[in-house]
Amino acid sequence: MHTITLNTMSICTTIKLRANCGRTLMPRKLMIKKLLFKAGYSEKAIKYYLNKTNVGSIENPDAVATYTGLPCGDKITLYLKLENEIISNAKFEYIGCAGTATSGSALTMLVKGKNIDEAWKITKDDVLRELDGLPESHCADLAVNALHKTLEKLKKQITGM
Ligand code: FES
Repeated sequence: MHTITLNTMSICTTIKLRANCGRTLMPRKLMIKKLLFKAGYSEKAIKYYLNKTNVGSIENPDAVATYTGLPCGDKITLYLKLENEIISNAKFEYIGCAGTATSGSALTMLVKGKNIDEAWKITKDDVLRELDGLPESHCADLAVNALHKTLEKLKKQITGM
């Protein structure tokens, strides 16, 4: 039996290893759900992860930026689209753990419908609240830092500075 870590790669490896040794009786989604639950993810976070909520890119975004977290090296690329100065759409791509994925989903849910100033005020605690907590709370920092980097770009484009 392999240990469960908070790293998505390890979860995937565990699933493959179980499948290879012929002991996989559960559907893949259910197995991931159980592993994430054991690792400390809430039902809401697991739902975001399994549904890949807002994972993807936006064609012709008004701003896009990539932020890499330290020391783990996880990355979020955030895409924002504005309509009448309101964030009408937000999507993200990521490389990293389930915490990064769920934080990206929570953040993109939170920014929609906000103007730039309101979006800037979104905090790590807001992301954690949206997820009903996370086993590794620093993943929420990564999402908020990606937001700030993207909003800075957006502000520069708007002001031309
Ligand atoms: Fe570093 Fe998730 S483990 S952002």
